[in-house]
Amino acid sequence: MVDAAAPIGVFDSGIGGLTVARELMRQLPAENLIYFGDTARVPYGPKSPDTVRRYSREISHYLRDRGVKALVIACNTATAHALPTLQAEEPIPVIGVVEPGARAAVAATRGGKIGVIGTAGTIRSGAYERAIRALRPAAEIIARPAPLFVPLVEEGWLDHPAARLVAQEYLEPFRDQGVDTLVLGCTHYPLLKPLIAEVLGPDVALIDSAEQTAAEARRVLASKQLLSSASGRSRQLYVASDAPDQFLRMAERFLGAPIDGVETHTLG
Ligand code: DGL
Repeated sequence: MVDAAAPIGVFDSGIGGLTVARELMRQLPAENLIYFGDTARVPYGPKSPDTVRRYSREISHYLRDRGVKALVIACNTATAHALPTLQAEEPIPVIGVVEPGARAAVAATRGGKIGVIGTAGTIRSGAYERAIRALRPAAEIIARPAPLFVPLVEEGWLDHPAARLVAQEYLEPFRDQGVDTLVLGCTHYPLLKPLIAEVLGPDVALIDSAEQTAAEARRVLASKQLLSSASGRSRQLYVASDAPDQFLRMAERFLGAPIDGVETHTLG
């Protein structure tokens, strides 16, 4: 029997998924969270689907052993490669970030011309195209990888001239083709939102799936009577597979608030 008082398990290849965790905390303040960042094996973006599926399975088993009532895959690459597998194998609800992002993009687009940026793995998987087409078959979709955005964010170069140059290069095709909506299909990209907005201009809607994913988690938990009814202060526990000190430092930037500590747990 799954207990509504149990925590929600959230995982990512590293720290980027904290953008989703932050939104979960905002929208579901009564929920306890356990966040796992696979900092020992980040990045997932360039890795094969099989490898990302294996990693995702290991993390899911670990979080389930810690008693979570649901899993949120707060990583676009892991969602793209492992969501159907985990949904089929896990006895608890599993929520990914791709469909909520696609839904937000379809709601935002005016002319149906939607751009998607993500890691090489996410773009190669075609997951966003499938999710967008399922909702709006006639959508015109331009999807391209933007892998250098990840290390730029990790380095904290959110408004650095190098980040600007990279953004101009990556975003030019979207400007040329006149997309009216761009999906930020990677956990790190929302931190570059001001820069991306500046390069693309005010007429392009930028879609960050964190908000929609948290809303989806709320719907799924509510439909299964799994929403917490606790009234006290909720708890967040952070686990990293390597370099907990660095995780702690970076987490502050992603969460916009300090955290108490980070456990270390090695997988694989
Ligand atoms: N978390 C990954 C994603 O959202 C980005 C970092 C990585 O490549 O592991 O796709």
